[in-house]
Amino acid sequence: MQLGVCYYPEQWPRTMWADDAKRMVELGITHVRIAEFAWSRMEPRAGEFVWEWLDEAVATLANAGLKLVLGTPTASPPKWLIDAHPDVLPVRADGTRWNFGSRRHYDVCSEIYRRECLRIVSAMAERYGRHASIIAWQTDNELGCHETVPSYSPAALARFHAWLRRRYETVDALNREWGNVFWSMEYASFEAIELPNLTPTDANPIHLLDFRRFMSDEVASFHREQVDVLRRYAPTADVLHNFMGFFTTFDHYRFAENNSLDVAAWDSYPIARTESIALPEEQKARYARTAHPDVSAFDHDRYRAIGRGRFWVMEQQAGPVNWAPWNPVPAKGMVRLWAYEAFAHGAELVSYFRWRQCPYAQEQMHSGLNLPNNELSPGGLEVQQAAREIASIPEFARLDAPTQAATAVVFDYETQWMFEIQRHGKGFDYQALVFDYYESLRELGLDVDIVSSKADLSSYRLVVVPSLAVIDDALVAQVERGSAQWVFGPRSGSKTEAFAIPQQLPPGALQRVLPMQVLEVESLRASLAPAVSIDGVDGIAMHWREHVRANSETRVDAQFADTWPAILTHGRVRYVAAWLSHALHRAVLQRAAQEAGIATQLLPEGLRIRRRADLTFAFNFGAQQVQVPAPANATFVLGQPQLRTGDVCAWKDA
Ligand code: GAL
Repeated sequence: MQLGVCYYPEQWPRTMWADDAKRMVELGITHVRIAEFAWSRMEPRAGEFVWEWLDEAVATLANAGLKLVLGTPTASPPKWLIDAHPDVLPVRADGTRWNFGSRRHYDVCSEIYRRECLRIVSAMAERYGRHASIIAWQTDNELGCHETVPSYSPAALARFHAWLRRRYETVDALNREWGNVFWSMEYASFEAIELPNLTPTDANPIHLLDFRRFMSDEVASFHREQVDVLRRYAPTADVLHNFMGFFTTFDHYRFAENNSLDVAAWDSYPIARTESIALPEEQKARYARTAHPDVSAFDHDRYRAIGRGRFWVMEQQAGPVNWAPWNPVPAKGMVRLWAYEAFAHGAELVSYFRWRQCPYAQEQMHSGLNLPNNELSPGGLEVQQAAREIASIPEFARLDAPTQAATAVVFDYETQWMFEIQRHGKGFDYQALVFDYYESLRELGLDVDIVSSKADLSSYRLVVVPSLAVIDDALVAQVERGSAQWVFGPRSGSKTEAFAIPQQLPPGALQRVLPMQVLEVESLRASLAPAVSIDGVDGIAMHWREHVRANSETRVDAQFADTWPAILTHGRVRYVAAWLSHALHRAVLQRAAQEAGIATQLLPEGLRIRRRADLTFAFNFGAQQVQVPAPANATFVLGQPQLRTGDVCAWKDA
């Protein structure tokens, strides 16, 4: 359980650095991340490196006893570089180019830019790669932030052609797979293919999907090029990237393949995230100052899988931020609570953003651990409290990593892309559906692992697949082999890899273990709300429903008022034929958990629990004081069983 902070020495007079370092250590901070936007100071003119200031900053922080995370500065190419190579600026879907003047103004496909990045990263890594206090390197910063993944530039087009050629080998194969006979879309050569923007109506969905697959691979290879340099010059340091919450524009599982990450780090802004994702307005209002109780947990559990067990929070909200639609001050206790929450889910480090609020430029309205006048902010005081507690609680010093949960939720990036490309109804947001299932499981007091459909799922007792567009034979084999209960949600098995309807109808290959067919699907406006009741809970289908034919071996466990099946079961496999209202999802999952032999308990509103090694942590995000469900003989190592809003406790079962 270590605490860190993000620091920008280049933004402050040198006379402050030593005092900043000293005060960080006094606060209980052990790690500091620097340099990720400082290219214009490292190389003020092309080829003219100035390291003296960074040498001094590194030495000052290291001499104070801090461990450093060094960021490569490639998220903010300096003006001279853009002036010399204006083609580095990415092209948007409407054909215009971004301008210089903020950050992330580069085209990930630009070979010139990739070369420039390797130049600065090599120079930096050569100089600092073996510094004993630099224990980790961060590549770039939040790849894809500000919607900068896709570029519609000539550079992107050339690389897309090469990518398509590798995938399809011949243009005839591509025409066949894409179904280009439709609307006379056939191509005579790969070079004839264009990027899927600026078309009068939707481009062919597989054209859009392949473009997204391609761009996702481009982001991963852009990062990979930096990793290879860092591994060469900094062989003992951890390499990481700081991903974002609820962000799906590239495939993070593929990104993390082939040893390209030691740690998955991510940036956690719970209140801002709650404000900016698709949640009912009522929930946004209820959790305006605490953040939704599952919004951070969801990504902690997701990034734990992406980092194969190792994850950090690289940036943690420390007070009000500047970028959400509304930016309230967090409820008292939350800045401390979020650190414990991350640790309970297995984080090794929680690093706050940022050391001191900057009085100028874009983020002047963004808080830090210090006010602009250098006084500890309310968030800073909470970090001080957390640091003191952590240092004084012996159980925290030797806390093992979390063990595998009994329940897995499958999350799949390509499914997100497919259903974004083909929503079919306004309300269908795959990630929101996954989140609804996840929330239900957590309300039932369960620990959850979020996993890829390609992971080994054999030792889970309950596997929940809120939806998975393509179901392959390997997954069906996993269902057949184990003894787990499986729950599949709507649109599972509804597509092939080539974005077509499976020949045997949805749910495709899943029919081997669940004999049923989806005949028609409908998206539902709010006025169409088919009613259904499950285990005594009444509710409706919203956004999406399927008209399903069950084969005689398949049991219909619940049906809509108009008699279409809602829940179908065959052996250990369940199918949910609609996007159900929340309490119904919970009822389905509660029943499946029971059948899997997993004990559930409905927690009071706003309370969440998470087990790590022999400790159970509890967090109150709700408005009311609550009593935690600890056994009578539990030993509390932190806090007590009554939790006020924003409070946390941890106990050991006797
Ligand atoms: C993150 C970013 C930081 C800072 C922060 C503000 O997305 O990585 O550089 O901008 O947001 O909340």
